[in-house]
Amino acid sequence: MYRILEKKEIAMRNTWYKVHAPHVAKKVKPGQFVIVRAFSNGERIPLTPVMWDEKEGWIVLVVFTRGKTTARMAAELKEGDHILNVAGPLGNPAEMKKFGKILAIGAYTGIVEVYPIAKAWQELGNDVTTLHVTFEPMVVLKEEMEKAVERHVVETVPIDPNLDFPTNMKNVTKRLVVKVREMLERGDYDLVFMVGPSGDQKAVFEVVKEFGVPMKADLHPIMVDGTGMCGACRVTVGGEVKFACIDGPEFDAYQVDWDVLIARSGYYTDMEQRAFREYMKLFEQASQGGE
Ligand code: FAD
Ligand code: FES
Ligand code: MG
Repeated sequence: MYRILEKKEIAMRNTWYKVHAPHVAKKVKPGQFVIVRAFSNGERIPLTPVMWDEKEGWIVLVVFTRGKTTARMAAELKEGDHILNVAGPLGNPAEMKKFGKILAIGAYTGIVEVYPIAKAWQELGNDVTTLHVTFEPMVVLKEEMEKAVERHVVETVPIDPNLDFPTNMKNVTKRLVVKVREMLERGDYDLVFMVGPSGDQKAVFEVVKEFGVPMKADLHPIMVDGTGMCGACRVTVGGEVKFACIDGPEFDAYQVDWDVLIARSGYYTDMEQRAFREYMKLFEQASQGGE
């Protein structure tokens, strides 16, 4: 059992959990993740230790409220409660070496996964610029990033209440692509790295490719066990089948079959949306004192 030492909402739909998990804090390296099972009747989801303290034995997770499980975590877990299981660290650490000038991009909550990697790259002597593109009320870790890297750029897009969510998200993608192009035109980067929705990663890759800059991306297919056993996280890289949990999550963006990744990520959307709606209905009834 993993005690929640601290829980706070740090931006709209972004919750910070400081969790006592000494075995993870002792071993985790930037780029690795954990698989969390928060509830006995709940599913397992991958999350990323954003910061940690080996001596005190804690890790910090920042979680975007996306569907049923993350909404349940935000609504039902309190400081002092316990998370049932935190398995890890899993996956391969990010490649740590002197690349030179790096542009590390996070779309939405993806920036929290960029944070430990960008910080470590900077500490190794790289010149790291980070770019966070998100909706206006969803900016996170701005001060931490500013301290950790050479320069941190935040680009926000307002949420237009007259537009549906997918259209609002398209506005974020547009801003992301324009900003990345502008930065690549001005800077002489040796590496681009990105974490975010696969559609946005693909859109950024199309721009980066024009400039011929090497690019790495942390991929986010559905993961279940995180140990290479279930096959859920299959991705096609360099024409071969890879498992993102054990072969990744970091891959060469030029080798990734983005269309397969995007198609596979949407396989369960209908079921996920139904589960989320049903949970929210029950949650609202319970909050109003109903059944
Ligand atoms: P659902 O409604 O069930 O799903 C919504 C969408 O989330 C799905 O369409 C799918 O794209 C994704 N998703 C759902 N289940 C999984 C799963 N088991 N594995 C991967 N993706 C899934 N999110 C954060 O907010 N913070 C993090 O630090 C973070 N780190 C991640 C690290 C890795 C290596 C991966 C693969 C994902 C990470 N995610 C992180 C994404 C997070 O796992 C999903 O947002 C979460 O599983 C959604 O669960 P849900 O039930 O709330 O949403
Ligand atoms: Fe099961 Fe990768 S999550 S094989
Ligand atoms: Mg889910």
